[in-house]
Formats: sequence, structure tokens, C-alpha cells
Amino acid sequence: MKLNPGHTLTKFDRQLPVYNWLYPLKGQDTDRFGLHSAHDLLDVSAIRSRAFYVHIPFCETICTFCSLNRGLGSEGDEAINRYVDALCAEFAIKSRIPAVTAVPPRVVWFGGGSPSILTADQIRRIGAAMHEHFDLSQVEEWTVEFEVKSTTREKAEAFREIGVTKARFGLQTFDPEYRRLFNITATLDQTHAAAEMLGEYFDHRSFDILYGMHGQTVSEFASDIQQAIDLGTETCEFYPVNHLVTTNTLHTNYRDAGREPLSYIDKMGLTVFLNHYMRSSGFQLYNGHGYARLTDPGTEPTFVSKRYTNAYHEYCWSHWDDDLVGFGSSAVTQTGRWTVMNDEARASYVRSIEQDRTVKVKVTEADGVPYERGLVLGLPYHGSIDKDRIPFERISPEILGRLDELIREGMVVDRGHEYALTELGWTWYVNLMYYLSPADDRRILDEFVAARDTNPGLNDGVRSTTPVRPTGPRTRRPLLPLATTERTGCGTGCGSLAKAG
Ligand SMILES: C[S@@+](CC[C@H](N)C(=O)[O-])C[C@H]1O[C@@H](n2cnc3c(N)ncnc32)[C@H](O)[C@@H]1O
Ligand code: SF4
Repeated sequence: MKLNPGHTLTKFDRQLPVYNWLYPLKGQDTDRFGLHSAHDLLDVSAIRSRAFYVHIPFCETICTFCSLNRGLGSEGDEAINRYVDALCAEFAIKSRIPAVTAVPPRVVWFGGGSPSILTADQIRRIGAAMHEHFDLSQVEEWTVEFEVKSTTREKAEAFREIGVTKARFGLQTFDPEYRRLFNITATLDQTHAAAEMLGEYFDHRSFDILYGMHGQTVSEFASDIQQAIDLGTETCEFYPVNHLVTTNTLHTNYRDAGREPLSYIDKMGLTVFLNHYMRSSGFQLYNGHGYARLTDPGTEPTFVSKRYTNAYHEYCWSHWDDDLVGFGSSAVTQTGRWTVMNDEARASYVRSIEQDRTVKVKVTEADGVPYERGLVLGLPYHGSIDKDRIPFERISPEILGRLDELIREGMVVDRGHEYALTELGWTWYVNLMYYLSPADDRRILDEFVAARDTNPGLNDGVRSTTPVRPTGPRTRRPLLPLATTERTGCGTGCGSLAKAG
């Protein structure tokens, strides 16, 4: 990807088709380490704030846009019950590891999959085990991802009882046709009822909307935006669909419905439209894709608001001295240059705990502590970064040179004590994350995209942004089944995502 110096809006020659990834990516996978020896590697002495992520990898139905680590399950299934027992055992096992208990978490996130598939009793068991084994007294924010069909009053009550403060749910779109293509089976009435009911239990509700679907028009998107605003929640998140990690079924559905991919310049048009629509409706961005309902949006000196923050992302993704501890299959623990990923397979995760009282892990070691993370992730994603939080003397001249370039091109402003994105910088924030990454990380992302591009089941739009070309499919190839074992992430930056998504 090349920067286009001097251009007014099209600052890069193409848009990156992935939106979130683990950072740092560089490093070699190794299976030399077991659970305890892997955690012995972690130096937590400098860690300033920590997040816990708990993965619940079961869904009642599978959405065609989603390739997260999850499988089919129904409430009350024995497999889910065994998974809950294994999770509680993992809490007990890890509570004896010094690196895990040395720093109490400030945020907790229950993601999936669909944590709301758990019964109220299972929710209470998980909560009790966490409270028994960890110091949760510093937790400021505890989020749960709900799936609408499985959301009940009894479960909301149980989540609130164990300490949950925020409810998030996947809504994706109000459009009946795209809901059909996505295999979303909850009705809109159920969705509205769930949103209202969650408001009785939690101070904060948020939901996800996807856009940039094949064939989506501006007026279809405007209708989704307005209905999202009317739902009345405190925040909402808008993600462009990352089509590189969607399923073959979605692409077959698109084709059968005669829906062609949008070009990336069309998607950029939707993003710019979204931002103007939201701002004129009383919302302001609080990170790359999340909007908060404010009484006086746009009155701050920075383009991205600081009046609301999603603590999970702020505390575990933004700086070199934040870390993450994950529990459950595929969950990631990341401290400094080490990434420790739990067994990705649900069944063998449960079996190893039942039989051997341990979790198989995969360890990745980066070249060094990612001191540049504040610039690479914190600044583009959160819209500003305090200079105090960045150890400039430990950051490569190449990255600092790229930052200067972004300032010269009007995407970043130096505000004395901080760097902040301009509106133009936010428009390209994912590209900025890529552009500011070390060369090895950029190469890994390029390879990921190239590998996905060879998959004939995928049909994505034209990515180049200069010169502006007519819309249309990038390639017309026969659709073949996708590999189902890719390790990918969604747009949310949750703690179970793997390499790039
Ligand atoms: C882990 S899902 C959890 C939400 C919950 N299970 C539900 O569906 O109600 C989190 C979010 O990731 C987003 N997501 C999943 N796949 C995506 C993709 N291919 N591109 C962009 N966002 C995606 C969706 O908006 C989804 O709501
Ligand atoms: S979007 Fe949510 S409910 Fe749908 S398959 Fe993914 S995790 Fe499950």
C-alpha cells in the first residue's frame, strides 16, 4: 500500500481489506511451551492495566458473515455444561500462576460465540469461580455479548448479579433481505424487545451494525443508520464487513440474490456518509468505528471524542504496557512480546482440562516489547494518544518518520501534549494502523490478504482508490467451499481473535 502525498482525500492507493488484528503479529509460533512454562515467560512487572477475556464458543445458529471461533450449540447441551466446568477449572489452575494474579484486571469481557446461550445457573457458576479465584475489586467495566434469541430476563439478572455492567448485542442490519443472506433468525420484534429489556438491567447498551455488504445502496444503509439511532442505546458500533473472513455460504447467497461486491471507494463513501449522518443526529465517534450519543457532539478539540471510552479496548490494546489474559478455547493472553493462545479446538480444550488439568497453548514471540503500540494502535484506533505514554527513544526511526509523514499530509496533528487524528486521518484509520506498523507486521498482513485472495470462494470488490475506477467485482470466479479452519477475527478486537480479521 502506498501513501499518495499531496492528494486531498485519497491518501492511499488502496484500502486495507482487514480491520483488526493482534498486535504485534510478528514472531514465530512454537509449541515448545506448556501452560506453566509459557506463563513463566511473561514479565508483568511493567504492566499498568490488564483485561480479562472469557470465551464462550457456542451459538444457536451460525451467521454467514462470521468466522469466529464458535460452533453450534443449544441451551442446556451437555457439551456446554462440560465447557463451563472446564472454564471454571481453568480459573482455578491459572489462579496459581503468579503472572496471572500479579495484576488485577480493570476490565472483563465475555465474548464468543454467544455468552447468552449459557443458563442462569451456568452464568452464576462462572461468576462465582471468577470471584473466588481472582481479585475483581478493580474492575471498572464488565461487558457481555448477548445474542438476541437467547437473551432472557433471568440471564440478564444473573449477569448483573456477577458484576456485569455493559450489554452488547449483534444486530448487524434491520434490512430483511440482508438478514436472510446473513442467516440471522431473530425477528426485529425480538431485537427491539431485547434492547429494551437489557436497558432495565444495565446502564450501558451497545450493538453492532455491519455495512458495505455486496450490493448495499446508500439509501439502504441510511435506513439502517436511522433505525439504529432510534433504538435508543447509549452507543452503537458500525463495522464494514470484512469479506475476506466470511463464509462461502454468504458469497453463494450474494450471488443467488444478484448482489455484486462494492468497490472499496464505494465503501469509503458509506463510511463518510455514516459519520456525517451520526454527527448530525447527536453522536460522535469515540474510536475507529464506535459512536456515543452525546448532548453536544463535535464540541471537543479532537475529532474523536474522549468523553466516552470503551475501557476494554483502551486498556488492553492501546499501549505497550497494557495486557490481556484470556480464558476458554482460542482465548489469547498477550503480555509484552509474548502471545499465548489457548487450544483452539473446543473439544480438546475440555478434554485436556478434564484429563490432565491443563490447557494446551501455542506461544508466539515477537522481536521485542512492542513499545510502538501506542502509535500503531492507540493513536489510529482511539483518535489521540498522550505523548507521555510513548517511549519515543525505543521506537524505530522508520515509524517516527512515518508519523511525521502523516502529520505533513494532514492526517495527524501534533497538539503539544498529544497526537490526534484529523477527520481525514480517521477516514483512513485502518490504513494508518498498517502504515505505522513495523515492516514485518506489514508483510504478515500482506501475506494474509494474498492468501485469502487465492481462495476462489471469495468475491471482493476493487480495492484501489486511485485512480478512481468504476465499481464492479474484482474477479469473477466460480465459488468453491472455503477452508473452515482459518484463524480469523471479527471487527471487534475481542480476545479470541487469532491473527488477522
Ligand atoms: C463475536 S460477535 C458477537 C455478537 C453475538 N454473538 C451476536 O451475534 O449477537 C461480535 C461482532 O463481530 C462482528 N463481525 C463478525 N464477523 C464479522 C466480519 N466478517 N466483518 C466485520 N465484522 C464482523 C459482528 O458485528 C458481531 O456482532
Ligand atoms: S455473529 Fe455472533 S451469533 Fe452469529 S455466528 Fe458469530 S458469534 Fe455466533
